[in-house]
Amino acid sequence: MTEKRPVTILVPGRLHERSVQRIDQTFRMVRIDHVQPDLLTPEMKRDVRGVAAMGFLEPLGAAFIDALPNLEIIASFGVGYDAIDAAYAGSKDVVVTNTPDVLTEEVADTALGLLLNTVRELPRAEAYLRAGRWEKEGNYPLTPMTLRGRRAGIFGMGRIGMAIAKRLETFGLSIAYHNRRPVEGLAYPCYPSLEELAESVDTLISVVPGGAATEKIVNARIFKALGADGVFINIGRGSTVDEDALVEALRDGTIRAAGLDVFAEEPHVPQGLIDLPNAVLLPHVGSASVHTRNAMADLVVDNLISWFSDGNALTPVAETAHVAAKPRT
Ligand code: NAP
Ligand code: 8YV
Repeated sequence: MTEKRPVTILVPGRLHERSVQRIDQTFRMVRIDHVQPDLLTPEMKRDVRGVAAMGFLEPLGAAFIDALPNLEIIASFGVGYDAIDAAYAGSKDVVVTNTPDVLTEEVADTALGLLLNTVRELPRAEAYLRAGRWEKEGNYPLTPMTLRGRRAGIFGMGRIGMAIAKRLETFGLSIAYHNRRPVEGLAYPCYPSLEELAESVDTLISVVPGGAATEKIVNARIFKALGADGVFINIGRGSTVDEDALVEALRDGTIRAAGLDVFAEEPHVPQGLIDLPNAVLLPHVGSASVHTRNAMADLVVDNLISWFSDGNALTPVAETAHVAAKPRT
């Protein structure tokens, strides 16, 4: 057995079991139940140099970072890290890493499945069969919606947005998008605002990060712009949607249907959405295959190993890229 490195890594709260095992094999691992400074022992405060956490579950902010004076790195599980105050970490010379790329194709596959289920009502058609209604009542009704001729708008043309666009193109849909900055060299039309994008398409797919800049950015105005034949798909973050406005828009026909993998207060899903027949709802399974979650779990630990071997963070987030780039003595 290889000797453990003399570095203490803290795991606060839940983490993928594969990450936990590898951290325990490689470092001195310590654990607490939640991301709470008052749970830290004096030894933890003195010794912890790395934290491995789920970066969207529990807020990890200034108080927690300040409680760990020797902290160098926060390795987060998941590409979204909206619960971590990465800007504050960066200001304290703490690098934050996430798990991009290894989940991109899986999440894009899920987005396409969700879109097809929403437009072609596949979960309802299966429920019809299982209830014995095919035999008793005849064929499932023809679906009023089809993907044929649909115009897709991608809100968040990043890694996952791009992988979704690639798939939609082969499905024959036209594609446009909105980002704060147009992607250099990308031929799809980029609309300067989300509202203008929504006006120009009938199928809006949201895959933007959560956080203050996108909080409830998909609201009643956006649904009105999307229009009566509109389909809204969210595979990004639930916090980006005004869920009351979405329920209203689905109820009164402002838009036709929605497919959602993410919700504002997970795992709680508003009853208003559950009651709607024109909403397809998934329990945040975008990246949830054994294959992809293992790859994410490995990247968490590989970031820690690389950092404590040669000061190189493999996938630092933008807010802490300057920390990762600093030469280490
Ligand atoms: P990414 O490559 O960073 O892409 C994010 C895109 O969103 C970028 O194109 C960015 O462009 C745009 N964006 C960010 N803030 C914006 C704003 N305020 N207004 C307009 N556009 C904005 O990230 P990714 O790897 O594609 O992941 C995207 C998100 O998907 C993650 O942050 C996570 O929340 C979510 N996700 C969900 C699942 C799931 O299981 N459902 C799985 C993985 C990821 P600009 O910076 O130019 O604006
Ligand atoms: C995971 C995600 O579900 O990577 C993300 O941002 O939302 C998903 O891949 C999550 O990170 C952990 O359960």
